[in-house]
Amino acid sequence: MKLSRLIIAIDGYSACGKSTTARAVARILGYRYIDTGAMYRAVTLYFLDNHVALTNPKEVARALEQIHITFRVGPGGSSETFLNGLNVEQEIRDMRVAEKVSEVSALKPVRQKLVQQQRRIGKEKGVVMDGRDIGTVVFPEADLKFFMTADITVRAIRRQQELLANEVLADLDTIVRNIRERDLIDTTRAESPLRQAPDAIVLDTTYLTIEEQVDEVVRRAVSLMVKQR
Ligand code: DC
Repeated sequence: MKLSRLIIAIDGYSACGKSTTARAVARILGYRYIDTGAMYRAVTLYFLDNHVALTNPKEVARALEQIHITFRVGPGGSSETFLNGLNVEQEIRDMRVAEKVSEVSALKPVRQKLVQQQRRIGKEKGVVMDGRDIGTVVFPEADLKFFMTADITVRAIRRQQELLANEVLADLDTIVRNIRERDLIDTTRAESPLRQAPDAIVLDTTYLTIEEQVDEVVRRAVSLMVKQR
């Protein structure tokens, strides 16, 4: 029996567990996982390291031509982000990147370049993609769309634990401030603001464990595949 391969879009606020959920769902279904936030973070890292002036469109365009982002499966089996051949998976999670990424991802040429690459990857189907605009802009025709939300303190605690796992210490207030600022920029920017697609399923993860979030997505994916059989 051959089941169809889906495009699953997972959008939502930062630190709601999108990446963790998407990664696990992809592993269970045997799909490719694409962390689009990592792509925006990699561009931000390049801009920071190369002192690219965000207000200078020519400089931004020139820098974008030099950027090549790829994903490879790491030793632990999870997908890792490479910037021009270098593994930047850890570096892109630093606070200095987090503090700049919303500004960088609000730039139209940055979005154009990354959306184009994301669509190319998704064409092969059998993909779980997480981000802010996957169900609205990148794949409005995605088979299954989720929109994840959660209480801000819970999100901040989760992000703090994630940073700790990467040996980065940050106090909760700083993280809450950073998340609030990012929410504001992400939802109010002119280019592809974060918003819920009308046909997206809302997942409030405040009181959900990762296992419950993953189960919910997998259950809906499997029932859709069975329907499409
Ligand atoms: O998911 P994340 O926190 O790693 O994303 C980092 C930033 O990238 C976030 O502030 C918003 C931006 N982003 C975006 O604008 N569009 C996407 N599809 C994914 C992320």
